[in-house]
Amino acid sequence: MSTTTVREFPDKTWFEEGPTRGVEAALEAGEVLRFPYLPFTLLESELKFRDPRWASGKLKNISMDWPSNKFRGLVSRTDLVGLRTVMTRYANQSEALLNRLFPHYVGHLQRVHTALLPDGVAGREIPWRKDDTRLHVDAAQFNPTHGARLLRVFCNINPFGQARKWRLGEPFEAHAQRYLHRIRPPVPGWFEVIHKLGITRSLRTEYDHVMLQLNLMAKADTDFQRSSPQSTVSFAPGTTWVVFSDQVPHAVMSGQHLIEQTFWLTPSQQVQPRLSPLRILERILGRSLC
Ligand code: SIN
Ligand code: FE
Repeated sequence: MSTTTVREFPDKTWFEEGPTRGVEAALEAGEVLRFPYLPFTLLESELKFRDPRWASGKLKNISMDWPSNKFRGLVSRTDLVGLRTVMTRYANQSEALLNRLFPHYVGHLQRVHTALLPDGVAGREIPWRKDDTRLHVDAAQFNPTHGARLLRVFCNINPFGQARKWRLGEPFEAHAQRYLHRIRPPVPGWFEVIHKLGITRSLRTEYDHVMLQLNLMAKADTDFQRSSPQSTVSFAPGTTWVVFSDQVPHAVMSGQHLIEQTFWLTPSQQVQPRLSPLRILERILGRSLC
């Protein structure tokens, strides 16, 4: 069985003058779009934000929500203005890049959060549910997407020449078919309870439930982790990559220092909505999930 394709592009700028545009088809087919010559540059005064001391070990990253610009996972509250400046610049550049790559999505991309991962991947002690070294498709646990896509722009900002290494897995439909028949329906009333308690930011839908279960069942499945179709890919420092991370099974194997921007996109705004996880799951199950 096939695994994810990584497609490479020569762009050296994030902005309008870059050469690549109109590549929605590759993204929607579940490819990873890699830009090896597209670094995100930190100013001299911003290099300190790469220090792992900025992030709380528990959350493993510092993230800034949109549109509130509020932080999560911070240890030190000094120089928040500087940190916000870096995060905002990354969000702006990412959005400029996506607007050029995907003209069909212009005006429909919603900024969700910007994150800085200053910590190393190797040797981390993390509960299996949060362990991104296990192949998984992304699912939003606390911030239900109600079917919206997770479109993410990653950039390796490692200053020591260290690549970020990922594994990539099988196509989404084959992945879903592995687990879908074993997913139990949610306990009636449970979504309301966790929303009222403030655990989720909005009411979970059955789509969010199924995606979360796919994420957890794959992470718990040692056979799948070991023997499923997979390939490895290496992202050198200065490389940016773009992927629908709710569609493409991925795992991070090594690396340190990453910046990342997450957008939501409603499936109906895709060129081919039928390729979205929402529509694929609904087709297999024969009912609406949102
Ligand atoms: C993820 O699994 O979404 C994060 C990957 C990474 O840290 O490189
Ligand atoms: Fe992930």
